[in-house]
Amino acid sequence: MVWTEKLFLISIIKRMKIGKLVLQGSLVLAPMSRVTNLPLRLLCKKYGASMVYSEMISSEAVVRENPKSIARGLIAQEERPVAIQLMGSDPDTMQRSALSLEKIYRPEIIDLNFGCPAQDVVRSGCGAALLKDTGIIRDIIELLTGSLDVPVTAKMRILDSIDMTVEIARTIEKAGASAITVHGRTQKQGYSGKVNLETIKAIKSAISIPVIANGDIRDEKIASHVLDYTQCDGLMIGRAAVGDPYIFRRISHYIETGEMLPHRTFDERLDDFFEYAKLCRRYEMLAYSDIKIKAQRFLKNRADIKSVRERVNGAMDIDSILEIMVEVRAAKGTLQKSQE
Ligand SMILES: Cc1cc2nc3c(=O)[nH]c(=O)nc-3n(C[C@H](O)[C@H](O)[C@H](O)COP(=O)(O)O)c2cc1C
Repeated sequence: MVWTEKLFLISIIKRMKIGKLVLQGSLVLAPMSRVTNLPLRLLCKKYGASMVYSEMISSEAVVRENPKSIARGLIAQEERPVAIQLMGSDPDTMQRSALSLEKIYRPEIIDLNFGCPAQDVVRSGCGAALLKDTGIIRDIIELLTGSLDVPVTAKMRILDSIDMTVEIARTIEKAGASAITVHGRTQKQGYSGKVNLETIKAIKSAISIPVIANGDIRDEKIASHVLDYTQCDGLMIGRAAVGDPYIFRRISHYIETGEMLPHRTFDERLDDFFEYAKLCRRYEMLAYSDIKIKAQRFLKNRADIKSVRERVNGAMDIDSILEIMVEVRAAKGTLQKSQE
């Protein structure tokens, strides 16, 4: 690499400032329902995520004092700073639930979901449905920024029209939000199809609060390109971090130095999985469906262990899944040959 390129790379790594909160870097872990539980967040934090988000929490469930929903806000000291994400459409309910979660958990940020495309969420007028009603978006943000101590941020999707999307971002900023994350896909696209960087770039140049770009950031080169093209203040990583939380270290190292770190070895990926399982046990979050999915994710991209993944898939309880993973570790000599 020539020295000018290196200088440029160094210049784009920033400490993101969101309201009064100063982050150590600019890479954050996305909120993912049923995925970004406390143990996974702790692993992402360990490998360099500058901030992590809780799974989205229904404001109505919090107001109804649903214990499962409230428990999703649980924060460990070591993972801070943490943003708790709230979903809902009624300003009063959003305010009451935000105040109560702020009081219980003291998150660094309350983030608002204006992007979830799930049918049941959209049907109830929440998530991406709110992008059609900037009046409600404005009311919610004004009410929350006026009553919470912590900064309020928003996570949105885009519309087909760049101009209309930029208008929503302007409304969010004007109402008092301290940052916006933009997932560069429309509600209709769901989680596939091309991420529209042009719209993210247009939002970034139209507003003054930090903008975090999101969508399909899977490796160092993509991360660097998205930062460079959009000029955003930060990047949010979702699916690529599940099963490979080390991605935060690789991307931040590349952005800082221009050098690629090696990927985690097979052994190291397994170590990460067992650490995940240990954290689940410590926080009493060890659950059959979760550990099954996570085991598959930590084994991902290993062509030679298709049969192991099938065995995990067929396992009937937590202990069987953990036993299979222990066997995999013991047999690593033969399994990893073609990979490393
Ligand atoms: C299983 C799953 C659950 C998600 N849950 C949430 C959520 O609770 N709140 C939210 O704002 N976005 C949610 N998302 C969207 C992600 O935060 C992110 O915007 C999206 O996955 C694109 O980023 P990625 O390509 O890095 O995964 C979810 C995505 C997935 C795949």
